[in-house]
Amino acid sequence: MTNRFAVVLAAGQGTRMKSKLYKVLHQVCGKAMVEHVIDQVETAGVDKVVTVVGHGADSVKEILDVRSEYVLQEEQLGTGHAVLQAVDVLGKEVGTTLVICGDTPLLTAETLSSLLAYHEQHDAKATVLTAHADNPFGYGRVIRNTEKHVKKIVEQKDASTEEASVQEINTGTYVFDNQFLFEALSLVKNDNVQGEYYLPDVIEILKNKNEIVMAYQMENMDEALGVNDRIALAEAANTMKKRINKKHMQNGVTILDPANTYIEADVIIGSDTIVEPNVMIKGKTIIGEECMIGSSSVICDSKIGNGVRVTSSHIEQSEMVDGSNIGPNSHIRPNSIIGENVHIGNYVEVKNSTIAKDTRVGHLTYIGDADLGENINVGCGTVFVNYDGKNKHRTSVGDNSFIGCNVNLVAPVNVANNAFLAAGSTITKNVPEGAMGIARSRQENKDGYWKKLPPSQN
Ligand code: UD1
Ligand code: MG
Repeated sequence: MTNRFAVVLAAGQGTRMKSKLYKVLHQVCGKAMVEHVIDQVETAGVDKVVTVVGHGADSVKEILDVRSEYVLQEEQLGTGHAVLQAVDVLGKEVGTTLVICGDTPLLTAETLSSLLAYHEQHDAKATVLTAHADNPFGYGRVIRNTEKHVKKIVEQKDASTEEASVQEINTGTYVFDNQFLFEALSLVKNDNVQGEYYLPDVIEILKNKNEIVMAYQMENMDEALGVNDRIALAEAANTMKKRINKKHMQNGVTILDPANTYIEADVIIGSDTIVEPNVMIKGKTIIGEECMIGSSSVICDSKIGNGVRVTSSHIEQSEMVDGSNIGPNSHIRPNSIIGENVHIGNYVEVKNSTIAKDTRVGHLTYIGDADLGENINVGCGTVFVNYDGKNKHRTSVGDNSFIGCNVNLVAPVNVANNAFLAAGSTITKNVPEGAMGIARSRQENKDGYWKKLPPSQN
């Protein structure tokens, strides 16, 4: 089989984004555009990926890491000049080279595979991926000759009125015979309105040499979107969102209102889970089967087991084990593990803590830097006082203990199994197994007090 290579163009600043962040690093559904591109290129299957970096080189390298080799384009003199920077790495190779832009995050591996197959079937030296656009403004136009064969590509800024009226656009994705690509690139000139070395000019150069040059028009223009500004970024995110939601629904997830549900690209959800409107599920979150993710919940980089119920709550970098539930209006902050069948009710915040199975934390409680055992009842208004103004300290509470309402546990403090903490206590000393900790002033009743009040008050 022929060797396959890919060149990903990612050196541009992206002036039209008006951003400090380099264009290809802008995210679409939680993933940098260039990562989406590499994902699809890898799935389509190539032997070597070379990414052209320039602006933001270090940040692009950090994100793609060992998934790609890199060449530096010091000055951004155009897409043709960008590909030419790969000559030292690829110039001598024999095979097929896919060139793709880092700002087309919607292209799929299926389309790339079809493009590669089409190119190989036709024994072409170059094949450009095109699409029909209702509004082609801004894209390069594919100009065909009278036999309908592709002749050249003309950029928006260089197009005559007649050329600009063409609706077949260049997606910025091509497949080349590697040797022919680099030979033709050395002939590309910058005598155009933008003074840039255009990669699409390679098409005309090869055509004029009577080489086989093909255009493969794909059906779905949605995939072709090149993101050059924030409007296109939002469009890309919307299309990607629909695609992601559809995939989950096909896998057996109920999404009550797909238009108002935001799930990022790497999220995994088990079947028979129900997702209500206005939910955001982000990062590397994994959700099990038969869960209910209620309206207005936000879950980020977390693991949710099976049969978990989340109601209008936020969960970050934490785990909720099978059968647990939370909400409404509670917040699980990073490094927390909410055990099996644990109940977290409303207005509860948990941070950097573990809560073992069957424990109940019903209302208005803060649990920070603590380890709670099994089957504990945490009363309303309990505060784990973890911070002394300088350092954080941990607290532990043993199995089957009962914490009454409005208890403060001043860390570091340990409460053993089967202990009882009296309501309203401020616990500063360890409580042994089976004991009751009570730390509050005794109540005194003043008899006849009502009669002592001045007449206006009784
Ligand atoms: C390009 C194509 C256009 C096509 C469109 C599809 C050219 C000249 N035009 O236009 O025909 O319809 O994509 O989206 O190729 N880049 C570099 N170095 C450079 C310049 C660009 O690496 O010197 C990178 C950018 O980071 C970007 C990609 O190449 O990822 C495309 O560049 P961009 O400026 O977005 O080109 P378009 O104007 O969109
Ligand atoms: Mg572009």
